[in-house]
Amino acid sequence: MKIGLMDSGMGGLSVLHEAFHLLPNEEYLFYADVDHVPYGLKKPEEIISYTTDIVEFLISKGAEVVIIACNTATSVAIEKVRKLYDIPIIGMEPAVKPAVHNSHNKRVMVMATPVTIRENKLKTLIDKVDTEHLCDLLPMPRLVEFAENEMYESHEAYDYVIKELKPYDLSVYSELVLGCTHFNYFKPIYRNLFGDEIEIIDGNNGTIRHLAGKCGLTIENTDKKLKYKEPTEVLTHPKVTYYASGRLITDEKMLTHIMRMHNRLEEVRHI
Ligand code: DGL
Repeated sequence: MKIGLMDSGMGGLSVLHEAFHLLPNEEYLFYADVDHVPYGLKKPEEIISYTTDIVEFLISKGAEVVIIACNTATSVAIEKVRKLYDIPIIGMEPAVKPAVHNSHNKRVMVMATPVTIRENKLKTLIDKVDTEHLCDLLPMPRLVEFAENEMYESHEAYDYVIKELKPYDLSVYSELVLGCTHFNYFKPIYRNLFGDEIEIIDGNNGTIRHLAGKCGLTIENTDKKLKYKEPTEVLTHPKVTYYASGRLITDEKMLTHIMRMHNRLEEVRHI
């Protein structure tokens, strides 16, 4: 099956990467809207317009299902986009429900972009599942820029996370929800700051399982390490076509960037 994925940038690679593990025999189209990243600081109308154009583009390239691998675009655009197209459109949702369920009444930190935090979709979800008011919401917009620039272990990224977490007593949290697909790259930082006990939950595995169920695909669940050595390998294992804001990615520099990002995602997958 031809599966399209879109994100404002390279955050969506974390969803694609999980799909490689669970559904290695499908064919993928990945669209990073690098000309317009970040979405998390933009107006909803702009995000809706970009998202609609991208879904249309992916369908024109043969996508039979599209994953909006971006919590921000899902928050503001998914309902409108679903009305426009007949194919299944799968969105991302911060994993608040499993986090609250697993928390045993300790607190739950939900990190996301400012747009995701402001929008009704997350508020409605929290009202529904967080009956004990355990969730604290924290916007972390700068992590998007750090991820795009591969600054995962940089002092800037560390200092930023430390500064944003300063008002909180981290010992009261048992769950950390990554409500933005760009945030996966920084798992070692959260682990260092929150300690060994915290459960770090992203929505990627659940999203790919949801896709499989919806499209009748069989999950392989290969835990085989995925490590790329050559930039061109990212085009064939599995078969993927990458687009940067509609431009086909073929140049070595960009493929090397993508390769390093996949390798990073592999390293941090089980942290
Ligand atoms: N990766 C996106 C998300 O999941 C958006 C990041 C951004 O462009 O601000 O929310």
